Amino acid sequence: MKQKPLWRSASVYQIYPRSFQDSNGDGVGDIPGIISRLDYLKDLGVEILWLSPVYQSPLDDMGYDVADYMSILPEYGTMEDMDRLIEEAKKRNIRIVMDLVVNHTSDEHKWFIESKKKDSPYHDYYYWREGKKNNTLPPNNWTSMFTGPAWTFDKEAGLWYLHIYGEKQPDLNWHNPKVLEEVEKIITFWLDKGIYGFRCDVINQIYKESLEDGKGHAASARGIEHYLMKEGNHQILRKLYDDIFSKRDAVMIGETFDVDYENGRRFLDEHELDMFFQFDHMGVDKSYNPLVPPRFKPKKFMEIIYGWQENCAWNANYLENHDQRRSITRFGDPKKYWKESGKMLATLNLTLHGTPFIYQGEEIGMLDLPRPETYEEYKDVCCTRIFHVAKGYKIFSKRFIEKFINQLNRDHARTPMQWDDSPNAGFSSTQGQTWLPVNPNFKEINAKKEAEDPDSILAYYKKLLRLRKEEEALIDGTFESIKTKHPVYQYFRKLDGQCLLIVLNFSGKEASLEKDFAGRKGKVLLSNVGRTDFEFVNKLKPFEAAIIKL
Ligand code: GLC
Ligand code: CA
Repeated sequence: MKQKPLWRSASVYQIYPRSFQDSNGDGVGDIPGIISRLDYLKDLGVEILWLSPVYQSPLDDMGYDVADYMSILPEYGTMEDMDRLIEEAKKRNIRIVMDLVVNHTSDEHKWFIESKKKDSPYHDYYYWREGKKNNTLPPNNWTSMFTGPAWTFDKEAGLWYLHIYGEKQPDLNWHNPKVLEEVEKIITFWLDKGIYGFRCDVINQIYKESLEDGKGHAASARGIEHYLMKEGNHQILRKLYDDIFSKRDAVMIGETFDVDYENGRRFLDEHELDMFFQFDHMGVDKSYNPLVPPRFKPKKFMEIIYGWQENCAWNANYLENHDQRRSITRFGDPKKYWKESGKMLATLNLTLHGTPFIYQGEEIGMLDLPRPETYEEYKDVCCTRIFHVAKGYKIFSKRFIEKFINQLNRDHARTPMQWDDSPNAGFSSTQGQTWLPVNPNFKEINAKKEAEDPDSILAYYKKLLRLRKEEEALIDGTFESIKTKHPVYQYFRKLDGQCLLIVLNFSGKEASLEKDFAGRKGKVLLSNVGRTDFEFVNKLKPFEAAIIKL
């Protein structure tokens, strides 16, 4: 019998290397820093680490703009450090997954620099086009994901190049078979080093079927209908599987914005990906209209999660990552029920069907940054771009724009890991500034304090991760949602006659349990409010969560 792949039983921990642990006091996290924290991660109970990019990069988009895929950014360490990380992790039964960013490269990648010359073999690695109106306007109306036109004119080339993201992130031309060859070389290089696979950045947008104008209003036409999950995209992933992944014990995790059930099914059924991130539940509390304040709607949120649970054979479950605000601030109560809501959210994330992803700091209940005084403090390229575009529309005040941007600000999740209550939260020994400020709440919220408290969020994560290993139903069991009234959510995980009931209260108020369950017997496997007996419970405490074996 074929052994169950690691990615089905393991939990993943995402590291944002710049903010995890600084080993040499320059205010920037690094690979030796990660190595020094491997025991913490082992003790936590995760078996796969996903590293956000550590490659050579000008860091315009914090590494999601790669200048050389086969070398390490000197600030983060050397290739020897990386080899050591892979090896030290393996010693602890932990495998490393790297970020594969191949929709685009950095404009400082040698391919792009070369490609500016029309007769260069690299010219066709990117989308170089003549602009409209005598080359004075972009070739089409697409807007970049970070706002503004998706094309930039380059003087040297005398042409425009496409960038779905920032202007320092030119899109690779996947129509050119050479690009696939190069990417296969990169993948093989890293797999040969002993990594376990890749998290593939915006992987459902890589194939631009045409460069025609996008539908809709000029300022909002993204052109997405021309490059989202096109047939060519599926074929490329399938080819990677045939050429490489079918022959290796490795994992492919896709980042797939706007994915639907149908394409999701194809990704999995045709081995294009082992799992993928959907983003529907991340949109629930966002408002793209600056006049409508964002508000979290738990019912909608859970409906979306249930939908994916019931329509996708294997999910990549997450509530946080480096592009999202902190989950307790968004979906829980960061003040009165910080601990309870943090544990409730953990219960949700780790009892769903699929592979759970924990983002650094989530396990100790880290929160969003207080709003910066001025936009100049933002490091996130997405925010600075939006700010400049919005400022162009004179109708909005600066304060107003800042408020709007705050909900999208990706710096919230990127502040240094809070290890203890010493200066810089134990992240760095620098006398100067850390690259992003440490959240001022680090004296109350830090890993050391959490480790000393048996009732902490961290302690709860450890129990959950252990439970996931002990209760097979949490991994292989089916998922069945139960119809309940907001704010109570309940579902089953069932396997071979075993039945686990998960109960969640998504509010800061007491709530009634579904009648059918009041009075039923069950063994409480885990509770975030110290409940040991489930019998005759009909009221749930604020943000209560429990896993019950019926
Ligand atoms: C992904 C990354 C994000 C980056 C973008 C462009 O969404 O997670 O951080 O800005 O791709 O590479
Ligand atoms: Ca450092």
